[in-house]
Formats: sequence, C-alpha cells, structure tokens
Amino acid sequence: MWQLQGFGKGPVYTNVAFPIFVDPPHAPFDDNETLRTRPVRLRFEGVDSAYHVWVNGTLVRYHQGSRNPAEFAITDYVKGGGDNVLAVRVYQYCDGTYIEDQDQWRMSGIFRDVFLLGFPKATHFQDFSVQTIFDDAYENAKLEVQVELEGKGTVSLKLYDADRKQVVEDTCTAGNGDALKFSVPVSSPHKWTAETPYLYYLTLSLGDDQVVTHRVGFRQVELKDGLIKVNGKRIVIKGANRHEHHPVHGRTVPYEFMKQDLLLMKTHNINAIRSCHQPSDPRLYDLADEMGFWVMDEADLECHGFETIADATLSPAERDMPFFKRQQLTKKSAALWTSDNPEWHEAYVDRAVQLVYRDKLHPSVIMWSLGNEAFYGRNHVAMADWIRSYDPTRLIHYEPDLDAEVMDMHSRMYPYMETIVSFAEDASKTKPLVLCEYIHAMGTGPGNIKEYMDAFYKYPALQGGWVWEWASQGLLTKTKDGKEYYGYGGDFGDAPNDGDFVMDGVLDSDHKPNSGLVEYKKALEPVQLVSSLGKTFTIINRYDFTTLDGLACHWSTVTETGKGTGGSLDIPQGLQPGSTAEMTMPEAAISKDSETVLELSFTLREDTTWSEAGFEVACIQVPLGGLSALKKPEAQNEVRVSIEKTTSSVKVSGGRSVWTLSLSSGAISSWKKDNVELIAQPLLPSFFRAPTDNDFPQDGKDWLDRKLQFGSVHTRGIEFKENEDGTANITLSQKFGPKVLSWSLDLSTTLTFSPSGSLDFHVTGNPVGQALPKTLPRIGVTLGLPAAFQTTEWFGRGPSESYRDMKLSQPVGLHTVSQISDLWAAPEFPQDCSNRTDTRWFKISNGEGTGLTAQFYKPSDKEQRHLFDFMASHYDVKDIFESKHPYELEGKKKEHVILRLDAEHHGLGTGSCGPKTLDEYALKAAPFEFGLVLY
Ligand code: GAL
Ligand code: MG
Repeated sequence: MWQLQGFGKGPVYTNVAFPIFVDPPHAPFDDNETLRTRPVRLRFEGVDSAYHVWVNGTLVRYHQGSRNPAEFAITDYVKGGGDNVLAVRVYQYCDGTYIEDQDQWRMSGIFRDVFLLGFPKATHFQDFSVQTIFDDAYENAKLEVQVELEGKGTVSLKLYDADRKQVVEDTCTAGNGDALKFSVPVSSPHKWTAETPYLYYLTLSLGDDQVVTHRVGFRQVELKDGLIKVNGKRIVIKGANRHEHHPVHGRTVPYEFMKQDLLLMKTHNINAIRSCHQPSDPRLYDLADEMGFWVMDEADLECHGFETIADATLSPAERDMPFFKRQQLTKKSAALWTSDNPEWHEAYVDRAVQLVYRDKLHPSVIMWSLGNEAFYGRNHVAMADWIRSYDPTRLIHYEPDLDAEVMDMHSRMYPYMETIVSFAEDASKTKPLVLCEYIHAMGTGPGNIKEYMDAFYKYPALQGGWVWEWASQGLLTKTKDGKEYYGYGGDFGDAPNDGDFVMDGVLDSDHKPNSGLVEYKKALEPVQLVSSLGKTFTIINRYDFTTLDGLACHWSTVTETGKGTGGSLDIPQGLQPGSTAEMTMPEAAISKDSETVLELSFTLREDTTWSEAGFEVACIQVPLGGLSALKKPEAQNEVRVSIEKTTSSVKVSGGRSVWTLSLSSGAISSWKKDNVELIAQPLLPSFFRAPTDNDFPQDGKDWLDRKLQFGSVHTRGIEFKENEDGTANITLSQKFGPKVLSWSLDLSTTLTFSPSGSLDFHVTGNPVGQALPKTLPRIGVTLGLPAAFQTTEWFGRGPSESYRDMKLSQPVGLHTVSQISDLWAAPEFPQDCSNRTDTRWFKISNGEGTGLTAQFYKPSDKEQRHLFDFMASHYDVKDIFESKHPYELEGKKKEHVILRLDAEHHGLGTGSCGPKTLDEYALKAAPFEFGLVLY
C-alpha cells in the first residue's frame, strides 16, 4: 500500500461517498496518483529475440539478449499529463540467435513483464549489493552492503529478523560515483540453507521518502577442501533442470503456474534448480529464497548448432565413433565460430553481466553457470574473469570446461556410473563433480536413479546433479477433428525438427508428475533404510544441515490382506546429517505366518513455506520374513480331468474350468469357468514390448534390427499325457521367431491341467540361430480377456507403474483398481508403460464372481513364488508401437482387455540420452525357464 509506505497524499477514508469525481465509467486523470516521479525508465524483463523501442515517435534504443532484462531511460521522450505512444519492433532473429541455440521451442515476442520505474529527480538509489561473510567458525557474520547512489546522500541501513524485530542498524554517507559501503557485524545470525530458508529483511533509506528493501539470507558459499560447501558444510545437489515453459503460453509462464512447479519440487524432495538454459522469470528467485532451493543460475548462451556443422566435416570412420569421442574431435573447430572468436567477446561478457546484475541479491543463487553447450573458448574465460571481479561470493560452473581449468567444479552430462566412480576415486582431482544433466527422463523412466544417488552419498567429490528435465514441453494443440493433444517437433509443420525430444520431463506437458518424478522423490528421501537385522533396523539422515527432529514417524504393517493400523515410533533425537541410528521394530509388527512388510512413514511435524504439517517426505519398507508359499486351489469333486480330442483342438475339463487348446496355433483359445468365457485373445508366449524412448537408440535399436517386432510363436509338435494324480499334460514343441531372419527361441511348453481347475504353464526356452538379439524386452505370455474383466487386484508393487530399475517408489502392498484404463500411465508419446513388477499374485475379475488369478513359481521349487511383472490395458503392443500420439492409439483401442504376465522384464535405463539399461537390470537373451499357475 503506497499510502502506508510514505508515498502520495496518504490514505482516504469514506464510508458511502465516492472518493472521486463522479462521471462513470470515467476515472479521473488529474486526481489519480500514479507514476509521477522522474526520471522514468521503461523496463522489459524479456523479449525474444531483439527489439527497437520508440517513445512518441523517437527511437530510444535497441536491445538483444532474449532472456535478459533491459531498462531504457525515457525521461526525455515522455510527455507528462497526456497520452504517450510506446512502440516496440521485435525481430524474430538477430545475431544473438547464434548464441541462443538452446534445445527448446523457438518462439518470439514480448514474453515477460514490461513496466515503468520512476525515480526521484535528485539523489536516488542506483544499485546495491549484499554479501554475508561468516567468521571461520560460521558463527558470527558481517553484513556487507554496497550502495551506489545517483547524487550524494546519507543512507541508513536496518536489518530485521523474520519476526520483524530490528537486529542492527547503521548509516553511511557518500555518493557521486563513490560507492557507499556498510560492514555491519551480526552476531549468530540464523543461517540460510535450502533446508532452512531463514530470511531477514534489509531496508535502505535515503532521506524521508526513499526506501528500498530486500530479503537477506546469511549464507556463505565456498570451494573448500575440494568441495562445494555452504556455511562450511558439503551439500548434495538433488536438482532439476527447469526450462521456462507453459503448454499454452509458451515461455510466458504465469506466476501461479511457476509457483506450483516449485511447490511440486519441494514436495518431491528436490533441493536445487538449474535455470536451464537461461535466466528464469525474476520472480522465481524470490520463491527459491523463500522455499529453499540451491539455484544454479545460467546465462542465456548456447551455440550448439556449430557442433552439427563441425561434425559434418568428419571422415566416415570418425563419424562412426561414439558421440562423446566425436565431440572431442569437433569442439575446437566448433568453438572458433563464436566462443573462441574475439569478435564475440562483448556479446559473451554481456550475457554474464546481465545475469549477475539481475540476480545477485538472491541467497538461493549459489552458483553462476556460463551457459550450455557452447564448447569452450576465450570468451568463457572472459565471462568467468568478469564474474569473479564483480561477485567473488559464488561459484562458477560451465560443463564444457571438462578439466575445470577455470571453473570451480567439474561437470558432466549423462555419464556412465563407471565414469563418475573413477572420477571420485582419482586422488589427483582437486575440484568436485556435479552432473548438470543426468537421468534423462524421456518417456517411460528413468531407470536406475538410485545408483547415482548412492554414488553421491558414498563419494564426497560427487556432489549430485540435476535431472533432465523438469517438465515435458508439449504445446497444447488440436487434430483436424478437434481432439486436443500435446504437440511436439513436427506437429506444427516445422522442419527440420527434433520430434519428441522436447518431451523429456518428470512432469508431463500439463505439469502433472509422471512416474519419473515419483521415483526421483524416493531416491531423494531425507531418511533412508541402511539395513535390517532381526528386530532392529538402521536408518540414515540424508539431510545436509538438519537433524530428523522436524519429522514424525508412523509405522504400520502390510500383508496380503492389506495394511494394519500401527502407531507412532520415536525417531532418535539430534541425529546429525549423514549419521545412522538403530531402531527397534514395534513388537506388534512382527508376524510369523504370511509375508509382512513394516512400513514407516516420515512426515513433517510443522508447517513449512511449501507444505503443511503431516506431509510425507519419506516412506521406508522393511521386509519381515520371506515370501509366502504359492497358493493353489484344492480339487473339489473330480479326481481326474477329462479330455476330448478333435482334429483341430483338444478340450480339457477340470473343476469349474473347460479349456480348449488349438492344435494349429498351440494356444489356449478358450477357457470357460462356470460357462463364462475368460479368453478374448489366445494365450501364447510373447517377448516384445513397444520400445520406450529410452530403448530406441540402444537396446531397442537392436530389437528392431533383429525384427523382434515381427516375432510369433509356431508350434511344431504336440504330446499328450494323462498322469496318475488326475492331471493331464500337453507338451508343445514351439519356436518363437521373426520372419526374414533365422534366429529363434526354441520353446518347450508344458501345460498341466488339473482337476482343481488350475492350469500350469511351464516353459523352457533356448535362443538359437544367427544374429540373435542381445537382450529381450520380456519373457512371458499375453492373453486377452473379455471387456467385462475390469477389476484388478494384486499383491506387489503399486499402485503405479514399475520396472526392475524404476520400482522403489512403489511400495509393496495390496492394490485394487476397478477400471483397466486407470492402470494406464498415458505417455505423451505412446510406448511401453504401465508395467507392474515384483508381483506376488494378480487377479482380474468381471465383477460377477468370475476371475482369473496368476502366480509364477520357481521352476526349481514349485511351491515357491517367483516375483513377476504384469500389464493390463486395452492396447495391442503393435498399436502402441505404431502410434505417435495418444489420439492415434486411442483410435485403435480394443474392446477387450490385453493382459501380459512376465516371468522377467527388461529394465528401462536412460538410453535416450545416456547409458542404456544397466547390465544388472538387463534381460539377456539366454536360456530360460519359467512356471505360471493360472486359476
Ligand atoms: C543436453 C542439453 C539439453 C538437452 C538434452 C537432451 O545435451 O544440454 O539442452 O538437449 O541434452 O534432452
Ligand atoms: Mg543443446
């Protein structure tokens, strides 16, 4: 309220009377307080890519630097008391376009706020900066404030704490070019960290009527003992790369939408943001100060396109080299265009100056980044030199300075685990490593997040990373017949384009979390289980600054029949960051009979700036006892199955079931239970999945090369056997393989029909022939059930999708879903999804008492359960594979339910840009054997 802040004529009180001259709908021009002060500046927060500004027909100036702000002194051009005409001519491309070649939508316009700033005519504030310098013990600090004035004057400084109580004050006189410098001791200030974002309020006043205010966080960033430290402590970056993008408005992101992003980050344990690949909306940094984030603020600078040009000059042999090696060959010549070209010196340094000037007052900003993918040249060194001379209080990052000659840290994108581990174990390294981009979240995935986090916790020199990327950048659009969808490269007639490579977030384009974010949250949890033994288990505090005293713990037990109530459990008080504590299991949790899991939910005790008390930040499951034994129905009346053979099929009856096996296909083509048909698509072994984005360039490429997508089962022989125990066997000799090529999986499939009505499906497989695929997507069976089979229930991981290397966020439990469509994870580019792993048993039913239950057993011990994967949907694998947008897949939706039951299922990895599925999660094409029981 400007009236309450000493401006204008003071507040007006009236009850009924209008405070203005009454002439509706006109409001007064003369008696209406507004910007009257002079000089006047016009400020643009962001215009893509360049522009000229005119006021009242006079050209004021030109500016470029799309995501940088600009202020225009327009006092001399503005008329008081009348209409003024502001004209802005925006150019889509300019020479700055060469250094704004980021991986994002190329869009143009005045996309951020534009406003007028008024300054008092005489002496006024020009700029100020704040530094908080701690003593060696990080106990007491000095508040160093430097003020630049236009004119000469006396400035008084006051610092208030979060409760608005004054902490210190001081005054200082200077001006006319001399900077005013305050250095005020503050004893034992509350420290600002991403975990404890304590903010003080600073006011600087000049005379009676000029006050500027800003929030201050006391924190000190250093490279110390070879590590990035804040307030003397090592931090672990648990970050996200956030582009500024909105699915409807493009780079114009509404404040509330941005705020929601940051709230989602906090509630998913993310503690760091990289403002990739350019400075964000200035209001983001205020939110980051308040909520607590480590921000790496990045200059608007990338010229990646020169790599393509350099790459095209390589020899055929060089072009066959892996991407990273090729980059080493091209980086020098690519840098010659701009990064290492003296003619571009000013343009580069300007990008650093703009960044630092604008955001220097934010405690959340702990490092500056010189940009992205611009190779490495003298102009980067100049940027770093300027930053160090102007702001020595923060660290500098730039990934292509691979040996960290000038930067304060090494940085890598999408490295292999081996690469970062060998870095960490290399004693010659004197600076730490951060992963400015890792775990490429394109499509279903990413896999193996945990391995990276484990390495960050194990090796001090590995200080974390930022997931690529926060949100998929689809743009909401429509098909010709009006169906809405999120478009990507090529959907707007754009050519050349990079297709769906812009859809690679842990949020979908509508900014709703997908499984990637949920899994990331899990890996980032502040409390983790280290081990469990007998009646005790050990937890570790993964915060960098705080104890676990702010958390409450609730325990419960999970069994095949659901979740018990449990109670509260005391967390050891004062547990320091990185320390472990042994806890004792609640006596009531220990059960002896069926598989039991102790679940511990850790929640906030108090409200924070980003969530309410009671919010769950971590959930640990401690397994108690082993898996329960396989369950099978008992035979009721019949003691033997009965068999009927015809020339084309075999019909077997047992218990409530009547099965029909087709002799030509070797498939179960009908299964009637109490006369209700269960089969809508024959049950057969199957091995393919629609490659995910992460499969495509690596394992998936191999599958498609080997024509796995064309594979089918061929039956070559069949044998019958009736057994003494009343069961009957049909053994099929089968081959699964594609047309065209000679490789196959030789299968021996034994179906055992039992008088209890259950079917045992035992398969051994042997890969044979030439040019076999190296890995298989899956080993299992597929069948269809009639549309009425909508209810699913299972004991295993859920409720959402999970894969071998992306499953830890999905707790083991009893899950029920009443619509098959609710199981579908709906990727924005159709691909394999919605798998559930570590399943103990699965049941699908029609709501009228007929169901089908599945379990796998260990071939070596038929009484023991084998954990399996399932997926139930209305989509055929071929249709998923061939569709490029959800609306295309929707058009091919099947009426019936397609159920996939897998003994083994290949992992996800992050091969769309990074390592493919790790060996330990890969399903190698090797001899296999599995057993499935259905009833
Ligand atoms: C990185 C780049 C990002 C993005 C990503 C792939 O190389 O810095 O901007 O292109 O790869 O999604
Ligand atoms: Mg790039």
